[in-house]
Amino acid sequence: MKFTFPEGFLFGAASSAVQIEASPCVDGKGVDAWQHYCKVFPERFIDGDPEKGADFYHRYPEDIKLMKELGLKSFRFSIAWSRIYPNDPENINQLGIDYYHKVLDELIKNDIVPLFDLWHCDLPMWVIDRGGVYNPEFIDWYLTYAKTCFKEFGDKVQYWSTVNEPQCNVMAGYAWGNHPPFEKDIRKSLQASHNMIIAHFKTVKLFREMGLKGKIGLVNHFQLAYGATLDEKDQAAAERDMDFYSNWYTDAIFLGRYPESVFAYPYIKDNMPKDYQKDLDENFVKTDFIGINYYGAYRIGYTKNDEMDYEVVKGDPQDAYCFTINPAGIFDIIKYVHERYPGLDVFISENGISRKRPGYPEDPLRPTKQIDTYEEELEDNYRISYMREHLRGIVRAISAGYPVKGYYHWTIMDTTEGMCGGYSISFGLIQVRFDKPEKTRTPKKSYYYYKKVIENGAVE
Ligand code: NOJ
Repeated sequence: MKFTFPEGFLFGAASSAVQIEASPCVDGKGVDAWQHYCKVFPERFIDGDPEKGADFYHRYPEDIKLMKELGLKSFRFSIAWSRIYPNDPENINQLGIDYYHKVLDELIKNDIVPLFDLWHCDLPMWVIDRGGVYNPEFIDWYLTYAKTCFKEFGDKVQYWSTVNEPQCNVMAGYAWGNHPPFEKDIRKSLQASHNMIIAHFKTVKLFREMGLKGKIGLVNHFQLAYGATLDEKDQAAAERDMDFYSNWYTDAIFLGRYPESVFAYPYIKDNMPKDYQKDLDENFVKTDFIGINYYGAYRIGYTKNDEMDYEVVKGDPQDAYCFTINPAGIFDIIKYVHERYPGLDVFISENGISRKRPGYPEDPLRPTKQIDTYEEELEDNYRISYMREHLRGIVRAISAGYPVKGYYHWTIMDTTEGMCGGYSISFGLIQVRFDKPEKTRTPKKSYYYYKKVIENGAVE
């Protein structure tokens, strides 16, 4: 059986600055939140210090060469805000600008289309020190940064994304307390989310005013929720879970309103920012595309015991990150997103599977098969099956008429997972030996599999 992609489909891979650059404070870079907090709370980062990373910052020519050999059509990566504005919202670091010009030029020279994220989980520490996303001034700081990036890189970048996975930047940071700045304050998190959404609108407006030739979108993590049973209560619980986790930002950004079901909870309703709907109405502007980060699906059951009145049903197979793998769900999530937000180009902006790396102790919270040796890590047949099944689902979705324009595998090379596993788990098509000073890169079996898919424009 052969599943063929349309001509021009963007076969890509994704990454982010803080996860691959190694973020050394060289060439004037300022400190970002991961760098800072992994020293303050090492126990939260499980050996995840971004400074020990793959050093894409210096080795991008060799890494882009590997991308070229893979046949990659597009590369999704992010700008570290703290390289451009290291210490404050006023002073630009020219060396940071020069660096991204060099990376973009190298990609373009190799016919690899950049998809550039403005913000991928790595706020500069000066932003956090001044009140973070919660401070309404955040909107101006963000706009100043975006304007500089548009002015500098606008004619080289075809696809921009304003923010990656807003949940991680805002809800996880201000409500759940498991991402920087590690706060647990629902009122603050709702205000911070709102500020971020308004910053998105103003950035898109600026993008249009500056007459940039590319397209601009938002990348969201869609955690597909199925009702645990066909019972109405479970079905409604699954919808509420989608609203809370995934639709919160995308409804606001693409429909101009927050999802209704969440207002049934007084702690949400009573803590919403003043005049939130008026702000959305006044700032709403159309965005060009939506990026779906899809890692899996969950069964959600109604329960009376919890503040949220529902919970994830446990026991489904998971990867080392605890994502519940569900390849069939990729078709469903594309259909769901397209029907909810019609008229947008769709990208699968992330999709990937992880395993525990050699040398790390078994972790009862991440009960996946342990990989014992680095040789075994290269034989990643589980990743090939995962890719094949997801890629087939995408072709089915395209054949059904859904406008999926590209696929970005997470991730091009092994990275740090920050607070969620550090260097102890790997998602890469290319192995990086973080245990060696040379940080040797070796393509895994999945890299060669993807190369064949790209060459054939089809998945068998
Ligand atoms: C989503 C995030 O965008 C990325 O930073 C992370 O590494 C992957 N998920 C895998 O967990």
